[in-house]
Amino acid sequence: MKSETARTKTVRAIPRLEKRGTATQLIVDGKPFVMLAGEVHNSSASSREYMESVWERVVALHCNTAIVPVYWELLEPAEGKYDFTLVDGLLKGARKHHLKLALLWFATWKNAYSSYTPAWVKTALERFFRAQTADGKNTNAISCMCDAACVADARACAALMRHLRKADPQHTVLAVQIENETGILGQSRDHCPAAERAFASAVPAQLLEHLQARGEGLVPELKEVWNPGAKGTWAEVFGAGADEVFMAWHVARYVNRVAGAGKSEYPLPLYANAWLVQHASERPGQYPSGGPVSRMMNVWHAAAPAIDLLAPDIYLEDFKGVCASYTRGGNPLFIPEARRDESAAANVFHAIAQCDAICFAPFGIEGIPADGPLSKSYALLASALPVVAERQGTGTMLGILQSSDAVREADLGGFRLRIKSATPYEKTKVPSFGLVIALAADEYLVAGANIAVDFLPLPGGLPNVEQLFHEEGRYENGEWIPGRRLNGDEYAVVLHEEPGLRRVKLFSRA
Ligand code: DGJ
Repeated sequence: MKSETARTKTVRAIPRLEKRGTATQLIVDGKPFVMLAGEVHNSSASSREYMESVWERVVALHCNTAIVPVYWELLEPAEGKYDFTLVDGLLKGARKHHLKLALLWFATWKNAYSSYTPAWVKTALERFFRAQTADGKNTNAISCMCDAACVADARACAALMRHLRKADPQHTVLAVQIENETGILGQSRDHCPAAERAFASAVPAQLLEHLQARGEGLVPELKEVWNPGAKGTWAEVFGAGADEVFMAWHVARYVNRVAGAGKSEYPLPLYANAWLVQHASERPGQYPSGGPVSRMMNVWHAAAPAIDLLAPDIYLEDFKGVCASYTRGGNPLFIPEARRDESAAANVFHAIAQCDAICFAPFGIEGIPADGPLSKSYALLASALPVVAERQGTGTMLGILQSSDAVREADLGGFRLRIKSATPYEKTKVPSFGLVIALAADEYLVAGANIAVDFLPLPGGLPNVEQLFHEEGRYENGEWIPGRRLNGDEYAVVLHEEPGLRRVKLFSRA
């Protein structure tokens, strides 16, 4: 038997990322934890009183995690004087509602601007100098070249993490986002004097060595702009991509110093989120240039090893495409912001079951109706979550997200699955969504809505497939509670518009 001390140590181990099978999972109290989360509106966490109603909404939606900001301007209103009242309120509120937290460190960057810096930072224009336009005008963002700002931001982030280490022994906080949607807007790079000097200098060897070592593993968008044979300035090495690569390197290095200072106090998983390229025709600066967009992921990995993962804020239609681009290069999928319309109810399945996401979070969670589609999807997933979390990275689970009448075939467990929508998409425009888990070679869990699953033999297998049982049911405390046994007119494995769960056991015969 484990000694008391060993057990306490296991239970109290700090939340960490761990590679299990092909997935990187967030391990909390020794078990994989998947965040069924929601991010609150930007200003909600500035009032403890206001948060009272927000907690209720988050709970009503069956979330297990709330993603909430911590504001540099309110944490350090005077230089070196920290106020943790709001942070302590968040810890208390989350615990009271049995929720976990991811905190957002709104500091030097918030959507590419510096609006959350304290007044003593904003007004000291010489000490905390700004990014500038090509004609030398200050912008409303601190420059990523400003060492003093980076030091001040890092010191405040360290103070926050030090406080969490002491104030959160029960690990209510599972992860921290460093800054918010970094990069420069309105122009492709910073033109302040320090940036001009750096841009005219040679590309640092550290970056080039990292890119060389990745070789064929680099994302194609970077390969397209990088001339591996060239040495010299950013323009000489990265040609048309020079401005964005330059910004990505310097922004990521700044973020890395902030993250590193925080991590040295309390090593929680840390991530950086991205304002994505909204359209292929957009140029850097139309979206924040230098932010962790997926085409810059290699540069971010080189410059910011203290950042554990790069996280997309997905408001685009092409949800699957974004997930695919952010799972390249071993980057674990963590979606801190997603659209809060009905698409969220479907997209969450693809993220968690198909892409092994650690987190899915619609933005503005307190504005989502408690009786809407997201609530139903979250309720179903929350009940099955221990089973789902265990299956990530094992090759025994697939996610379903289809907005067409296409038939998908996939081999899972001991059978070939043929998956289609229960009602024709072209008529209803209702997507099919859900997941399938091979609980054993001949037994499956099917969850979701508007899906029909046929089970066929694998090539070379016995030709006939029959059901041994098929039942609806639900999970309670990790245990399967069967409902109706389905047979006769209900023989086929079909889930209609209400999200539900099915278990089916099969038999192959000659
Ligand atoms: C993305 C930002 O990261 C959020 O903080 C918020 O401003 C949303 N946009 C608003 O849609």
